[in-house]
Amino acid sequence: MRSEGVLDTTKDNHKELANDKKRDYSQYFQTTYAPPSLKDAKKRGKEQVQILKDFSIPENLKDIGVGKKFYIRTYGCQMNEHDTEVMAGILNEMGYETTDSTEDADIILLNTCAIRENAENKVFGELGHLKHTKANNPNLLLGVCGCMSQEESVVNRILSTYPQVDMIFGTHNIHRLPQIIENALFSKEMVVEVWSKEGDIVENLPRKRKGNVKGWVNIMYGCDKFCTYCIVPYTRGKERSRHPQDIIEEVRQLAREGYKEVTLLGQNVNAYGKDFEDLDYGLGDLMDEIRKIDIPRLRFTTSHPRDFDDRLIEVLAKGGNIVDHIHLPVQHGNSDILKLMARKYTREHYLELVGKIKAAVPNAALTTDIIVGFPNETEEQFEETLSLVKEVEYDAAYTFIYSPREGTPAAKMVDNVPMEVKRERLQRLNAVLNDISLEKNKAYVGKVVEVLVEGESKKNPNVLTGHTGSNKVVNFKAPKHLIGEIVKVRVTDAKTWNLGGEWVEEKSEVVS
Ligand code: 5AD
Ligand code: SF4
Repeated sequence: MRSEGVLDTTKDNHKELANDKKRDYSQYFQTTYAPPSLKDAKKRGKEQVQILKDFSIPENLKDIGVGKKFYIRTYGCQMNEHDTEVMAGILNEMGYETTDSTEDADIILLNTCAIRENAENKVFGELGHLKHTKANNPNLLLGVCGCMSQEESVVNRILSTYPQVDMIFGTHNIHRLPQIIENALFSKEMVVEVWSKEGDIVENLPRKRKGNVKGWVNIMYGCDKFCTYCIVPYTRGKERSRHPQDIIEEVRQLAREGYKEVTLLGQNVNAYGKDFEDLDYGLGDLMDEIRKIDIPRLRFTTSHPRDFDDRLIEVLAKGGNIVDHIHLPVQHGNSDILKLMARKYTREHYLELVGKIKAAVPNAALTTDIIVGFPNETEEQFEETLSLVKEVEYDAAYTFIYSPREGTPAAKMVDNVPMEVKRERLQRLNAVLNDISLEKNKAYVGKVVEVLVEGESKKNPNVLTGHTGSNKVVNFKAPKHLIGEIVKVRVTDAKTWNLGGEWVEEKSEVVS
């Protein structure tokens, strides 16, 4: 295990930091905190991952939150959403209760996302607003956690310009939340606990899941792919897979509790098991076991095309409770750009994989992530993204303008594409995607689909909303007691983003 990456959080150091506002904080971090380094990170495979099973809240901290409330705001991906569930579970065990208002909270945590610059700007904006909340309630503890806390530049900026923050802790330090809160309560200085080591697996953390219908289960942590634009391998550490038995037990528990849907989570789930030294076992094997558990719907995300193997396709073809939706980020349609992105596949390989998936799972809805405006992307290269989108016919896509992330290889590339060209390309791409989505949705009209009812529609409380297995949003009128159930709906109306329908009680032929 590396230990040199541990930030020194002794009080003396905090005092020194707080007293000397003009100090160059990056100097301080250079000795104690490893900023993103591709070279160092790529050596990570040789380090050993520890599996810790003895998490517990120290006796003296078990009641520290009784009569107090916490509020967590989550930014970014499902991994963060799930980390929030773990933090909520820990806080509950310390006696804290949840609140949905920042005004009556005793602890506010911002669980942040670093994937693009605008995600970070939102957090800095929110920290500005919370300055007033903190002024009105000096006993409030304000914490910043999640991916942004793993970035040296962000920690420096908070230390120097956001004194209202009481605690900063990283993605590897969540299990230390009780001790971090204790330090913050009894110290006047900002508590910083960010480990730049590559991360362990902590098994028995408590969780306060959001709702009791859809459950998320981490199957692995971290990412070793190092796509040149992406900050995740640095903020989330190295790839490390949970043991199959621990995952299967967690899914079984969700089944016993009556959950209707489980999503297996990881940054690159197709690399599941590659780090096992004594076991030849991958995502396909895991899915093949989990599909036998009595959970009506089983999903997994996010996939990397490079590691998506035939064994997994063979298991997906078995259908059953495995939903017919696959999120398969392509990022770009041109092989030269894919190479510069270090995606480790070509356009042709990707299309070949899509062909195999469509042959094995004919009803599969495919969705993707796409980046436009990667450094020096030419018009012709961008058009290859458009042509790939038309060829695959995605049901939906998340599209992004490339955002340079400090410390990543792509951030050093000189870029000759003006922002207005990137914006215009994004619009053109979205227009093509929307046309395809609408056409795909129209094909559902007249068919009966199964919908997991998630709640009332935000726009109209008389309308219920939910998802099909293929991840289409369906809105329809039906009694509220159906929330949490899987029901049949006849589709009557198709829009770009969702379907409208009528609830059908009788048995009908189901297509999805
Ligand atoms: N700029 C823009 N989009 C990015 N993504 C990841 N890093 C960046 C970046 N630097 C996108 C990718 C990824 C999704 C989660 O976010 O498309 O799949
Ligand atoms: Fe980022 Fe995904 Fe690439 Fe990993 S595989 S580096 S998380 S884009």
